[in-house]
Amino acid sequence: MPTPIEISPRDRLFVLTGAGVSAESGLPTFRDNNGLWNGYRVEEVATPEAWTDDAEKVWRFYSMRRRDALSCEPNPAHYALAELERDLGDRLFLCTQNVDPLHERAGSKRLLHMHGELFRSRCEAECGRPDFADEGIYESAADIPRCECGARIRPHIVWFGEIPLEMDRIYTEIDRCTMLAVIGSSGTVYPAAGFVEWARRGGARTLYIGPERPLNASMFSEVVLGKAGEVLPGLFNIAKPA
Ligand code: OAD
Repeated sequence: MPTPIEISPRDRLFVLTGAGVSAESGLPTFRDNNGLWNGYRVEEVATPEAWTDDAEKVWRFYSMRRRDALSCEPNPAHYALAELERDLGDRLFLCTQNVDPLHERAGSKRLLHMHGELFRSRCEAECGRPDFADEGIYESAADIPRCECGARIRPHIVWFGEIPLEMDRIYTEIDRCTMLAVIGSSGTVYPAAGFVEWARRGGARTLYIGPERPLNASMFSEVVLGKAGEVLPGLFNIAKPA
């Protein structure tokens, strides 16, 4: 059992999660051996150009991911983070790169999906209609729904080459934190992979949790090696105010 991480009454925690936190729920990560990017090419399913070239293929990819996510349950890592939010309240900010809804289903409420959400869609033309809840499965071009404006409906997902959501709010929360913990992310994709350096510059403690060292491991002051579902429960020791 790893040494507990002490959280003092003055600490504010920023947690960034990646695909690894959903791995024990059965959802594939991107870059592990059986990862999504081993079976699909980013350029064909996760870029604006892919959408322009073949919207049907893009929707088939996200429809497959919707099916997978519908059959998965949160794992102990998700529940541990939801409990941490109950203990810390607004002293915890959870930013996830994941588009699955497992954090919410485990009870997390103060949560930001910086790469969008699998079960939400929006108008490709950004006509002003906001993104909306959508569990639809679209397997052919004929299935792709249309917006009232006539444009096609696309996944509410941040593709490569697009800007992640609510970056101002994310940096504000990083600036306020005294500890930044990254859980289950390979440190491959920016800007998320750079959050740890931003936090270090602000004097925060930095912690990585995962079964292997990430690409940006040198940026972390502490590394806890292990599966999130196994090491997260009971990892944080929250000191009660005097
Ligand atoms: P990756 O697949 O790049 O990395 C997953 C990380 O999870 C690896 O470091 C694994 O070691 C770790 N891991 C695996 N099993 C784990 C477990 N049980 N507990 C904890 N960690 C575990 O996924 P991300 O880093 O999340 O973005 O990828 C970042 C972004 O790249 C994604 O949000 C997505 C992808 O392309 C976009 O598509 C824009």
